[in-house]
Amino acid sequence: MKTLEINGNTGNSKIYLEKSYTDVAELLKGKRVVVITDENVRNLYEEKFPEGDVITIGTGEGVKTLKTVENIFKKLVELEFDRSCFILGIGGGIVCDITGFVASTYMRGVRFGFIASTLLAQVDASIGGKNGVNFEGYKNMVGVFNQPEFVICDPKMLKTLPEKELKIGFAEIIKHALIGDPKLLEYLEKNYKKALHLDPDVIGSITYDALVVKAGIVNADEKENGDRRKLNFGHTLAHAFEKTSGLTHGEAVAAGMGIAAKFSMRLAGFSGKEEKRVYEILKKFDLNRNVDFSCKEIKEAIRKDKKKEGDHIYFILLKKIGEVVIEKIPLSVLEGAIDDMC
Ligand SMILES: NC(=O)c1ccc[n+]([C@@H]2O[C@H](COP(=O)([O-])OP(=O)(O)OC[C@H]3O[C@@H](n4cnc5c(N)ncnc54)[C@H](O)[C@@H]3O)[C@@H](O)[C@H]2O)c1
Ligand SMILES: [Zn+2]
Repeated sequence: MKTLEINGNTGNSKIYLEKSYTDVAELLKGKRVVVITDENVRNLYEEKFPEGDVITIGTGEGVKTLKTVENIFKKLVELEFDRSCFILGIGGGIVCDITGFVASTYMRGVRFGFIASTLLAQVDASIGGKNGVNFEGYKNMVGVFNQPEFVICDPKMLKTLPEKELKIGFAEIIKHALIGDPKLLEYLEKNYKKALHLDPDVIGSITYDALVVKAGIVNADEKENGDRRKLNFGHTLAHAFEKTSGLTHGEAVAAGMGIAAKFSMRLAGFSGKEEKRVYEILKKFDLNRNVDFSCKEIKEAIRKDKKKEGDHIYFILLKKIGEVVIEKIPLSVLEGAIDDMC
């Protein structure tokens, strides 16, 4: 069975890539368990949930709030849940982010793990120990670093996932290839059709390779003081696009990566030939949306980005496929480049 480990200061996390979600009971022996999940995942998978209480939240980014966290705390108190218990999040990135935050703060922290049920959660959101909620319109503004004890990524669960959600995961897989694994990019270029049809071998292989990139970066810089910023490739602009153009996260990340690749030619010596490969791979995964954006709104959104430090922002550029540089760029330079694009 393929596994990976995250060894963080906040704990160790074991990631199971070929374990069936129905085998989670093996990891929970003798523990009182409460499952946190969302409505959709509960409707689809409740029959196979491990024994225990279930707390269900709504769906969508709007539920990722302190209010939801408070409601969960209330239920945990009602259930007389104490520190010896175990919290299991079963769902996508939203369930994992909320579950991790609840488990890290309830009674100063209880044990927790995840069954990641979306492709994005399997290749990105459930891995790496960032947990938290949105606050006052700012994404992931309140949260903690804390590693789940385990994460199960079962490709079978992806069969019920809407196509739109799958593409969000593919955008992050492409990101991991671009920032850290040229061979993964070649593999995606050759096998994109099978990937889009969820061929189990291809999905297994690309999920593992994408996670090797993420796990390597997180193990070197758990709390994002340096290299972990690489994972934000394409994301500074993506967050702005998501706010202003109504794109999905995946489409916004894809657009952000496309533009970051163009900036990379100008600012980091990235070749035109490789920039074309970035464009082509996004197209293969049908992620090459034209973005209709207002420059003013984009600039405002960037000014509100929490990765900003004073008048500078860390911007991730590609030197070549698999190699990035983190440039601390004055906002004025980035805004100039945005004006040029407009
Ligand atoms: N903590 C991190 O490091 C990190 C990294 C990336 C993203 N995130 C966060 O992840 C969140 C997005 O995660 P997401 O894209 O997984 O979204 P999500 O959790 O909203 O899930 C997407 C939709 O798919 C449904 N769903 C989940 N599993 C399903 C399945 N197997 N079959 C059918 N439907 C299913 C959900 O109910 C939901 O409607 C964002 O809030 C983002 O900030 C966190
Ligand atoms: Zn992302």
